[in-house]
Amino acid sequence: MKILGIETSCDETAICILEGDPSENDLGVRLLGETINSQTKIHEQYGGVFPMMAKREHAKNILPLLEQTLKQASLYVAAHEKVDSLDKEIGKKLEEIFQKETGLLEETLNFISSIKKPDLDAIAVTEGPGLEPALWVGLLVAQALGLAWNIPVLPTNHMEGHIVASLLIPDQKLTLTLAVPNFPALALLISGGHTELVLVKDWHHYEIIGSTKDDAIGEAFDKVARLLGLPYPGGPEISKLAAEWRAEYSQPLFTLPRPMLKSPDFDFSFSGIKTAVLYAVRHFEKENNRPLNQKEKQALAGEFENAVTEVLISKTRRAIAEKGAQSLILGGGVTANTYIREAFKKLSAEMSTPLYLPETKLSTDNAVMIALAGYLRIKNNQNTVGPSLRAKGNLSL
Ligand code: KG4
Ligand code: ZN
Repeated sequence: MKILGIETSCDETAICILEGDPSENDLGVRLLGETINSQTKIHEQYGGVFPMMAKREHAKNILPLLEQTLKQASLYVAAHEKVDSLDKEIGKKLEEIFQKETGLLEETLNFISSIKKPDLDAIAVTEGPGLEPALWVGLLVAQALGLAWNIPVLPTNHMEGHIVASLLIPDQKLTLTLAVPNFPALALLISGGHTELVLVKDWHHYEIIGSTKDDAIGEAFDKVARLLGLPYPGGPEISKLAAEWRAEYSQPLFTLPRPMLKSPDFDFSFSGIKTAVLYAVRHFEKENNRPLNQKEKQALAGEFENAVTEVLISKTRRAIAEKGAQSLILGGGVTANTYIREAFKKLSAEMSTPLYLPETKLSTDNAVMIALAGYLRIKNNQNTVGPSLRAKGNLSL
């Protein structure tokens, strides 16, 4: 079967087409096409993702990306004349679904009528968690395509996507195999919106055992970067400075707290450490009567990365032991961080617990993880086709 994946939960518009045979035992899939448009340059000026701007950009890019992806998969066949594939009933239903989004509806209908129905079997689309205005764009287009092409639309959880993306092992070019972790597995999800420790009892069976009480870890990276005058997204920038500090001298110039390191639960808190960075900068400027130079910024970034990594490692180590986890899965955009990846490789060796890390390319938001999560639900008969879909900003696993 061929499945179309659509992801628009934050600032990446991503589309892909995966092919696999759900009746087969193996968990191999082929990637037939994949496109992604990142809006980071646009949001940079606001220092974070501006939801209405994200929505506008998704709406602008989603259909051109869809066209490109279908072409990559050799599924794009232009119609010689406009295909009128929608009966009145469906047209009316779409008007109800799209409501005020008449521009997007018109463009989507134009797109649908300009091509022959592609050989696709299902659509997996992110329903949450994420920014609701952004999520809606993917959900609306997915529903229109599903109705016009008469194929099911599977609402998909973005965080489940991050978990399964970490299990993908690239075999050959464009062929991917999914590893089967030993259950129960422990998943640590670290992204711009989440910091969660999840016990994965089996495919699709989750228990959240800890989460952040305030900021997500990626958000803390982004905010600290802003304090140091670095562009959005801040994670890669902080990580670069921290690596320079470690490589060049690694003398600590600053000391930051390790929030909730000793708390008996599995929860996190990252807003205090961001404030501690702010105070450290202010204190330094007052004492020295000048802003931080490059070397001092490197040292502060390094100390920040050390502090948050120590907390993540310590909580995860205890969760593995207490919950008897048989494997460890790391997912979400912050897993692109080299220092954090290396620290978890050491923890995995220390605890003899197999570790699943996403390929760097699949660390941050993408559509492969969404198509894959939808595909797995079909394979495991956990299909959740909804009659009408809704953006669920705070959807939990
Ligand atoms: O999963 P993701 O792409 O989007 C969300 O679902 O939130 O994660 C984005 C987050 C941003 O906060 C970004 O700063 C962070 O991942 N990030 C990193 C790195 N690369 C991306 N954080 C630390 N180090 C990195 N190298
Ligand atoms: Zn994400």
